[in-house]
Amino acid sequence: MTTIVNDNQPILEVRDLRTSFFTGNVEVKAVDGVNFSVPKGKTLGIVGESGSGKSITSLSILRLIQNPGKVVGGEVVFKGKNLLEKSEAQMRKIRGNEISMIFQEPMTSLNPVYTVGQQIGEAFQIHEGLGKKKAIERSIEMLKLVGIPSPEKRVHQYPHELSGGMRQRVMIAMALACNPELLIADEPTTALDVTIQAQILELMKDLQDRLGMSIIMITHDLGVVAETCDYVAVMYCGKVIEYAQVDELFKNPRHPYTVGLLNSLPRHDIDLEDEELSVIKGSVPSPTDLPKGCRFAPRCPHASDICALRLPNLEEDENGNQIRCWIYSEEWDGDPEVNVHAERTT
Ligand SMILES: Nc1ncnc2c1ncn2[C@@H]1O[C@H](COP(=O)(O)OP(=O)(O)OP(=O)(O)O)[C@@H](O)[C@H]1O
Ligand code: SF4
Ligand SMILES: [Mg+2]
Repeated sequence: MTTIVNDNQPILEVRDLRTSFFTGNVEVKAVDGVNFSVPKGKTLGIVGESGSGKSITSLSILRLIQNPGKVVGGEVVFKGKNLLEKSEAQMRKIRGNEISMIFQEPMTSLNPVYTVGQQIGEAFQIHEGLGKKKAIERSIEMLKLVGIPSPEKRVHQYPHELSGGMRQRVMIAMALACNPELLIADEPTTALDVTIQAQILELMKDLQDRLGMSIIMITHDLGVVAETCDYVAVMYCGKVIEYAQVDELFKNPRHPYTVGLLNSLPRHDIDLEDEELSVIKGSVPSPTDLPKGCRFAPRCPHASDICALRLPNLEEDENGNQIRCWIYSEEWDGDPEVNVHAERTT
């Protein structure tokens, strides 16, 4: 297994993480040997098509996988300790305290029988020892920060009295209220309008600068990655296929899948009439019927014989960037002239 070298000490290292779902005799390997690290005080973006294992990776880190799912291997090293070896009681203390999560589905983390203020305020009561009244005042401040109108009224309402977008923002307020050391944000702003989205990303950045919070940002939006992330892990079919510093990834994407993702981004600096948005051909293979070799091979314009036969390893270069592709593999003895960048439209 490769180790990741970063200029910063990692707060979290995920090593060969494996999570499967078991239905009947079938094992679906949703997360299949994932490796990445999150340097302290930095933001790691996780990107990849729907079903690539982004949410299951984050739920596995927090040990929130439920039956028929199970973490079947690997390590989740947070501040030097493997979370997979902690007791459930220890995990409860870590969740919502040292690590907090903004879930893709807001209703999963809001309790319908408590008001918004009771739920956000709990963090202030537990972590800062505030009384009820002060905790409500701080909750109102948090609601203001995430752009909720009439926060004095909303703080006394129940989740079902709020719109979906507002619930999402309440959840963000809750996740940020305890000043976590690591925030895992799963598509935090996808459902929100652009202004609110910008406001919330700004708020996260501000907390990161002030408190040194580390962030895992899961998103479909490469624009959000470019703006907010320091590093990025690209996932495909339960595996990381490229890990790089963000600037490096946008300047010099190497994996054919990453190249395809970037090519499908609308560009503002190209005349719209001339622009032909390329999409990655084909679709993601079924997790119960994965290709034997490289999982991207059926869609890859550069696939050669070896790709269909053998899965490439995640290999690291001297800068700590990683790639899982035969073209870049030191083990590969194929045609050195193959140039994936010839396919780029930029
Ligand atoms: N409850 C479940 N039962 C069986 N398989 C599951 C279950 N939840 C997830 N999976 C499997 O895990 C894979 C990864 O799911 P995950 O939710 O992590 O995808 P994702 O990358 O977060 O996608 P999206 O971008 O749509 O949120 C799915 O393709 C599916 O095969
Ligand atoms: S290993 Fe082969 S099929 Fe897979 S991405 Fe690289 S070139 Fe394409
Ligand atoms: Mg998801």
